[in-house]
Amino acid sequence: MAVASLGYIIAKTRDLSSWAAFATNVLGVMPAPSGRDDVLLFRIDDRPFRIWVEQGDADAFVMPGWEFQTEAEMDAAIARLRDAGHPVEMLDVMTTRARHVAKLARAMDPQGHPFEIFYGRFLDYVPFVSPAGVSGFVTGLNGEMGLGHVVLTAPSFEETYRFYKELLGFGDTDFGRFYLAGGGPEDKGVSFAFLHAQNARHHSLALGELPESPNGAVHIMLEVNNIDDVGRAFDRAKKHGAHISASMGKHVNDKMISFYVRSPSGFDIEYGCQGLQLDPATWVPTTSIAVSDWGHVWSHAQE
Ligand SMILES: [Fe+2]
Repeated sequence: MAVASLGYIIAKTRDLSSWAAFATNVLGVMPAPSGRDDVLLFRIDDRPFRIWVEQGDADAFVMPGWEFQTEAEMDAAIARLRDAGHPVEMLDVMTTRARHVAKLARAMDPQGHPFEIFYGRFLDYVPFVSPAGVSGFVTGLNGEMGLGHVVLTAPSFEETYRFYKELLGFGDTDFGRFYLAGGGPEDKGVSFAFLHAQNARHHSLALGELPESPNGAVHIMLEVNNIDDVGRAFDRAKKHGAHISASMGKHVNDKMISFYVRSPSGFDIEYGCQGLQLDPATWVPTTSIAVSDWGHVWSHAQE
């Protein structure tokens, strides 16, 4: 009944050419043919794409695509959404074909964030090769761990959290209570929820009780095979002149060693390795009161 993984993300940009250079030279993801002038596709494994970037009127994250393992599970989720009063749009055959899936629908969470759900992923039989020499991205056997995770803002925190748990079947991994305003007596702190889908990734979705981001998302995360892949990407980001949003560091909850780089769409991309894996059937949720064990010094300055 639950979402299986984060299948893909969609971003928009006013400048496709800078996204192409960033993706190839910094992230090391593989360009794939889209058959269109207004869309760039990027691969990290044997899926036809994991990152879809379209020409738009602004630079922003657009939406995630959540994967279901079976049509029955997807249909059950659609029924739950509709029963709870959330409209679900079934997408036409050409949109479905463009996403390289068998069945596709779109809806919106209580915070107004659009998302897609799908089942029946296609495969690309051209071997994945990173143009920057990344040894590999971690997506699990047959890609079942998904592309990584996405972090969304949720000022209406409780309502949004319940939506993802009760209607889309996400499970609790970790609750965060973070004091990001200095931790003084005036700092009320903000809630975070780190939620897993039906795969071993520590979290596929996180919700933060933060003001809405003009960039549509806080960050997405891509996981690579090892620390050398992370360190080399850090060097490439500096050489490319990309904005480093957070220095190298290690998260308390998922143990990921990562840095954050700003994408041409304005949201950050966490680029890390050694993320904690769990068994969704037996995991006992934890609570974290710190974000990072070490590092992750944030730099919020705009370029
Ligand atoms: Fe993250």
